[in-house]
Amino acid sequence: MPDRDGHTPEKYGFVVVSNRLPVDHTVDENGEVSWQHSPGGLVTALEPVMRANDGAWVGWAGQPDLDVEPFENDGITVVPVPLSAEEVQRYYEGFSNDTLWPLYHDVISPPTFHRVWWEAYVKVNRRFAERAAEVSEEGGVVWVQDYQLQLVPQLLREIRPDLTIGFFNHIPFPPLGIFSQLPWRERILEGLLGADVIGFQRGDDASNFSRAVRHLLGYTTTRPYIEVPLDDEVAPETAAVSKRGKWVRRVLAKQFPISIDSADWEVLARKPEVQARAKEIREGLGNPKTVILGVDRLDYTKGIRHRMKAFGELLADGRLSVEDATLVQVASPSRERVEAYMALRDEIELTVGRINGDYATMSHTAISYHHHGYPREEMVALYLAADIMLVTALRDGMNLVAKEYVAVRHDNDGILILSEFAGAADELRSALLVNPHDIGGLKNTIVRAIEMPKRDRVTRMRALRRRVLDNDVAKWSALFLDALADVRPGHRIAAPTKPADDSEEGAA
Ligand code: G6P
Repeated sequence: MPDRDGHTPEKYGFVVVSNRLPVDHTVDENGEVSWQHSPGGLVTALEPVMRANDGAWVGWAGQPDLDVEPFENDGITVVPVPLSAEEVQRYYEGFSNDTLWPLYHDVISPPTFHRVWWEAYVKVNRRFAERAAEVSEEGGVVWVQDYQLQLVPQLLREIRPDLTIGFFNHIPFPPLGIFSQLPWRERILEGLLGADVIGFQRGDDASNFSRAVRHLLGYTTTRPYIEVPLDDEVAPETAAVSKRGKWVRRVLAKQFPISIDSADWEVLARKPEVQARAKEIREGLGNPKTVILGVDRLDYTKGIRHRMKAFGELLADGRLSVEDATLVQVASPSRERVEAYMALRDEIELTVGRINGDYATMSHTAISYHHHGYPREEMVALYLAADIMLVTALRDGMNLVAKEYVAVRHDNDGILILSEFAGAADELRSALLVNPHDIGGLKNTIVRAIEMPKRDRVTRMRALRRRVLDNDVAKWSALFLDALADVRPGHRIAAPTKPADDSEEGAA
């Protein structure tokens, strides 16, 4: 179909659709425009698959009112979707990040429901679906990503029934009791069910989804399948017959836990200059006996306050001193125009100031706090410098930071303290698992980690490393795409061959 200017757009056999493009549009002080790698685990995860398949990536360039033609970036065709300033506010900051995000993360912060935000969400999802439909070749495969685009599978199927459509939810899917609060709950379920395969991080997310479909739509579910009733005229290629003799489309809904490009992280960790930097970081901190590290987007789901409370109390109780232990907290800026994030930043920074004011000495700080994203090499140096990695998320789809820490520790040392409410806890059973709401338990676990003999640390880290190195992001995408290819045999997608760029910033 010709575009606005009468050009016929190029077509691609494999199209990824996500809210954010893998590149950010930046303009420097001289007005020079450039495209920079944008942060986040999603980008790291999908780039290698895109390169292996010469595919196209449809998404938003991260700035309002930017209408740019598709272009080539680092071997990937980038297809920007424009959003107006009002759409950024209503669809992205509003419905995606002030309605869905808190609702899907156990209502840690209260979700806000606004009809105008929902209308913008529908409108923007339609635009993404139309763009994906324009650039997908006949019989192609489209892989839609995450909660910002849950209506795209259905809207896309309506325009292009020939496509095979996958959807992956990077964040948790909430239990029915919470999901039911959403005034547009049926529309979201129908939107997702436009996909042939719906991937979740954990088995619990997939069961929450199936249960919501059963209760709210009344469809039959036989795990891992959901039977979506069809009209008679639908292509029999994708149809099956239900037990009751009706035409149905069978949708696969199950877990595909995401991972990282583990081997690439390890390669960086073996670089002498990165190891030297790790030493330098410890020296800069005054060589405390134990360096404890937290790395997160500055988000209320991450439990940053809980970990600071536990650490502050250990100092107050005299169980730790600042010479014994420093907490390094990297909190990368995120969604800074959303009220709940502004309030969180104030609260965290007040807490850091108070704890440092009470306990820091001229030579040792209690909490070394950094409100930045860092390049990947610096992150690796930090992970190597840290004796203990502290992940205290109150709810998290996966938490790739936990996997990154494990991947870089080729010395088999270091301890991962991991919240049982992060998806990663399903796989990383040899971490010290904690309930971050239990501050007493968290304090005891931190002390236990500090005192743990090397032999035990090594046993645990070895087991963790086996999981993370065996189950990397290449395997994740191959498993998902194989499941998608099974829907329509003959539409196989190549597994990634080229490692991702190492210039990423920030936390997943
Ligand atoms: C999470 C979401 C991603 C999102 C990322 C960064 O990991 O699952 O979809 O891109 O956070 O958030 P942002 O709002 O900056 O895109």
